[in-house]
Amino acid sequence: MQRIKYTLLLFIILMACKKREYNSCSDDIGLYKLAKYPIGYAIDYSNLINDVNYSKLASEQFNSVTAENAFKAEYLAPAEGFYDFREADSIVVFAKRNNQRVHGHTLIWHQQIPNWIKEFNGTSNDWELLYKIYIQTVVLHFKDKVAAWDVVNEAVNEDGTLRSSIWKEKIGNTYIEKAFKYVQEVDNNVLLFYNDYNLESNTTKRNAVIQLLNNLKLKGIKVNGIGMQMHVSIVSPEMSQIATAIKQVTDNHYQLHLSELDVSVNPNSNDILLTNNLANKQASLLAGIVQLYNQIETKYQYGITFWGITDRYSWIRSYYNRIDFPLLYDDNYLPKPAYCAVKNHL
Ligand code: G3I
Repeated sequence: MQRIKYTLLLFIILMACKKREYNSCSDDIGLYKLAKYPIGYAIDYSNLINDVNYSKLASEQFNSVTAENAFKAEYLAPAEGFYDFREADSIVVFAKRNNQRVHGHTLIWHQQIPNWIKEFNGTSNDWELLYKIYIQTVVLHFKDKVAAWDVVNEAVNEDGTLRSSIWKEKIGNTYIEKAFKYVQEVDNNVLLFYNDYNLESNTTKRNAVIQLLNNLKLKGIKVNGIGMQMHVSIVSPEMSQIATAIKQVTDNHYQLHLSELDVSVNPNSNDILLTNNLANKQASLLAGIVQLYNQIETKYQYGITFWGITDRYSWIRSYYNRIDFPLLYDDNYLPKPAYCAVKNHL
C-alpha cells in the first residue's frame, strides 16, 4: 500500500512539474541558441521602427527573419517601372546586424499585387516580360542577401487544382515553372521554395503540391524546399496529421520550412480570455510540433518560423476580427507557456 501511495505521489509531482514547466520560464537565452536549426519570425517594418520592446525581442530571440509584408510586390513595385526597396532593405540591414538569415517572402502570390499590375493592359508577350523583369529585378536586388525565396505562394486549391489567379490567367499554367526558372537564371545559389497553407492537414492538396514540384524537378528545374505555413489551432490538425505531412515532404527529399507557425486558441471566434487551460493546450501542441521537427534529418531542417512575435500584432486578430493569442509572447511582451514549451523541447 505504501508503495502505491509513493508512486501516486511521484506521478502527481511529476505532472505538477510538467504543468509548471509551461507556466513560466525566462527568455534570457535566445530561442535560436537552444536549437539545432534556424528559429525565425515574421517581422513587421512599422513595428520594428516604432516599438522598442518588439525590436528588442526581434534581435534577441531569433536567427532567421521573414518580412511579413515588405518583400511582397505591393510594397516592392508600387508603380510600373518603379521599385521601392527601402523597407525591405532596412529589414535586411537589421537582420545582418543581428546575424539573422533572411527568408524572401514572396515573389509570386495572388494577393498583395499592386494596382498597376492588376490593371496592366498588354499582349501575352508584354505580360511575360512584366513577369520575368519583376522576378529577376527583385532577385538580383537581394542576391547574396537572401538565403531562400518563397518563389510561389499558395498556388494550389484545397481540391488539388491550380488556383485561378492573374498570373495563371496572363502567363498560363506554366507560370510556376517559369517563376522557378527565372529565379535560377539570375541567382543559382539562393534556395527555392514553394509555400502554402493547410499542407499539414489537407492530404489532397499536399499530394498535388508534391506531384507538381516533383514534375518540375523531373524537368530539371531546381526546387529545394516546401514551406508548410502551419497556421494551426488547438483543435486542428491532429499531431498524427502533422507527422504524416512532415514525413511525406522529407520522403520526397524537400527541405521543410515550418514557415508561418502560429496556434490559434480561438478558432471559433468566441469571446475569450487566455486561460491557463488554453495557454497550456497551445503549449502542448507546440511542444509536439517541435519534437516532430527535431526528428527529421538535419539536411531537411530549413527551420521553424513563427508568424510574428507577440499576440499584440498577430495578423489573426485583424484578419478574422477576433480575440486570439496565437504567438509565443503576450500583449505585454512576456513569454507565454507557448514560449516555454518551445524552449524546453528544442
Ligand atoms: O500598410 C497598411 C497601412 O498603411 C494601413 O493603414 C492599414 C489599414 O488599412 O493596412 C496596412 O496594410 C495591411 C498590411 O497587412 C500591413 O499591416 C493590409 O491591410 C493587410 O491586408 C496586410 O495583411 C497581411 C496579409 O498577409 C495580406 O494578405 C498580413 O499582415 C500578413 O501577416 C499576411 O501574411 C500571409 C502570408 O504572406 C502568406 N500566408 C498567409 C499569411 C496570413 O494571411
